[in-house]
Amino acid sequence: MQFLVFFLIFWQFFDFLEASKCTDCIASGKHWCVTVNECGFSPCATSISKSLNCPELPDKAHAYDDNFVRTKIVPLAASALNPNPEKCFKPRLPTMTLSKKFSANCSEVGPQSNCFSFTSFDTTQKVLVMSFRGTDSPLQLTDEILDFFTGKKQFFPDAGNIFTYFYDAFFFLWNAGLQQDIRQLKYKYPDYELWVTGHSLGGALASVAASYVVHTGIFTSDKVKLVTLGQPRTGDYDYATWHDKNFPYSFRIVHRRDLVAHIPPQDGADKLFHHRSEVWYNNNMSTTEPYHICAEADGFYCSSRELDTNIADHLTYFGVFIPGWQTKC
Ligand SMILES: *[C@@H]1O[C@H](CO)[C@@H](O)[C@H](O)[C@H]1NC(C)=O
Ligand SMILES: *[C@@H]1O[C@H](CO)[C@@H](O)[C@H](O)[C@H]1NC(C)=O
Repeated sequence: MQFLVFFLIFWQFFDFLEASKCTDCIASGKHWCVTVNECGFSPCATSISKSLNCPELPDKAHAYDDNFVRTKIVPLAASALNPNPEKCFKPRLPTMTLSKKFSANCSEVGPQSNCFSFTSFDTTQKVLVMSFRGTDSPLQLTDEILDFFTGKKQFFPDAGNIFTYFYDAFFFLWNAGLQQDIRQLKYKYPDYELWVTGHSLGGALASVAASYVVHTGIFTSDKVKLVTLGQPRTGDYDYATWHDKNFPYSFRIVHRRDLVAHIPPQDGADKLFHHRSEVWYNNNMSTTEPYHICAEADGFYCSSRELDTNIADHLTYFGVFIPGWQTKC
C-alpha cells in the first residue's frame, strides 16, 4: 500500500516533469519531440510546437465519466433542440425541472438564424444547468454560417478572443434574460454545481457561457462542468490558454470523423484553437466502445488525424440522432 502511494506520487511528479520539460522546450524556441520525449530532437515523427499541446491529461479528481455524459449530458444537450425541452429531459432526468427558456436572433447581419437556450435545476442532484442550441436548423451546414462571420472579438483582455458569431450569439441570449435567470438560480442555490452543455454551434455557446460565468465571478470554476458535443473551434489560442488554466473540468467530445470539430480551420486568418480536453470516440459510441482522452489541446492527434471528415458523425452522438429531438425525443 505504501509502495502504491509512493508510486502514484512519483508517477504524478513524473507526468508533471514531462509536461514542464515540453513547455520549457517550446519557450526556448525549439520543438518537443513526443516520440522520444526530447527537446529539439530531429528528425522527429511526432513533434509539438505549441505549448498548449504539451501532453497533459486532466487531473484525476476531475476524471471523465462516460456514463455521466451518456445518461445526463446527452439528454440535456439534445433537449435544447426541442421547443419544449422539459418534455425531452424529464423522462430521463425525473428530478430535473425547467427554469426558463431563451431565444434570440443570433446575429444582426448575415443569414437569419435563431439561437435558443434553457436553464434548469435539480434539488436532488443539486445542480443547475445551462444548455444551448446554436441555430434553429442543425442540418444547415454550419460552414455556411461560420464562413459568413469571420473575425474575432475580444472576450476579456486577459482571456483572448472569441469567434464573432459565437460572441454575438452568446450575448444576445445572455441579454435576452439568461443573465438574470442564472444569477437568480445561483442566489437561490449557492452551493449547486453548474453543468453547461450544447451540441454543434450550441457547444461553442456553452464554452463561451461557462467561461463567461467563471470570468465574471458568478461561479467558481471548481463548481462548473463543461461538456460539449461536436463543438467547432470557438476562440483563439489565448482564449484556449485562459480556459485551460481555469477549468479543471472541461470535455469536448468528438464522434469519429465529425467535420464540425475541425472548423473553422486552425490556421485560417482567424487562427482559432481548441481548448482541452478532447474525448475522441473513434467508433459508433455504443455503450461498451472505448474512447481516448487526448493529452494535446488541438494537435494533429486524436480526431485531427482523420483527414476524411463527414456530417453524419456530427449528427449522431452516443447513438442519439440529435436533430431528431426537434420533433420527437
Ligand atoms: C429575428 O429576426 C427576424 C427577421 O429578421 C424577426 O422577424 C424576428 O422578430 C427577430 N426575433 C427576435 C427575437 O428579435
Ligand atoms: C457498434 O460497433 C460495434 C463494434 O464494431 C458493433 O458490434 C455494434 O453492432 C455497433 N452498433 C451499432 C448500433 O451500430
